[in-house]
Amino acid sequence: MKLSVIFSSGTGHNLTIAKWVEDEAKKHDVEVRVRKVAELALPAELNPGQQKYQEDSKDIPEATPEDFVWADAVIFSTPARYGIMTAAMKNYLESLVGAWSEGTTIDKVVSAFATAQNRNGGQEMTVRSIYTSMMHHGAIIVPPGYTNEVQFAIGGNPYGVSGTATREGFESDIEEAVRHQARRTIEIAKKIHG
Ligand SMILES: Cc1cc2nc3c(=O)[nH]c(=O)nc-3n(C[C@H](O)[C@H](O)[C@H](O)COP(=O)(O)O)c2cc1C
Repeated sequence: MKLSVIFSSGTGHNLTIAKWVEDEAKKHDVEVRVRKVAELALPAELNPGQQKYQEDSKDIPEATPEDFVWADAVIFSTPARYGIMTAAMKNYLESLVGAWSEGTTIDKVVSAFATAQNRNGGQEMTVRSIYTSMMHHGAIIVPPGYTNEVQFAIGGNPYGVSGTATREGFESDIEEAVRHQARRTIEIAKKIHG
């Protein structure tokens, strides 16, 4: 089974989520690619936290449409930006139009994570903004729902595990919930794609 983990990040929280997903996937005999979406902000516009993230993520390849077409399953992770995905993630999703028109983006098993600065800062809407776009590809969307009690411990967002970003990391420990959602997506993708 082939999995692409495609994330957007300004200051690194979504990179952390992507790495947890990668680590979990490797435990389950999955061929995994981790890809960041291309940053749209100019270097001069970045604050010190964003500059540090650029340095930390410099070795991660940028996502291309082929990373989506290649995969059986795609897991997204994005910050909330005014309640929806980042412009950089949206820009990536729009780059899929050629593949979409050829029908090569159909039947991907998809799940999504989100982060925001505030507890109720739009995480759920941000996850759903990804799912809305994915429905146009005929994706098979895999939400975590309440399929594991770990969901209750982290606030119970059934659409996609989400984190409240702090300077130190996350306000609550979402790692196990992220891993559960990744495992569930992998299990379902294996059932569908072998
Ligand atoms: C332009 C912009 C818009 C944002 N909009 C929201 C928002 O709607 N709600 C919120 O709680 N945080 C918002 N934030 C904060 C980001 O969601 C937060 O910094 C991000 O989730 C941290 O993840 P990262 O380290 O991967 O960038 C916004 C940040 C920026 C730069």
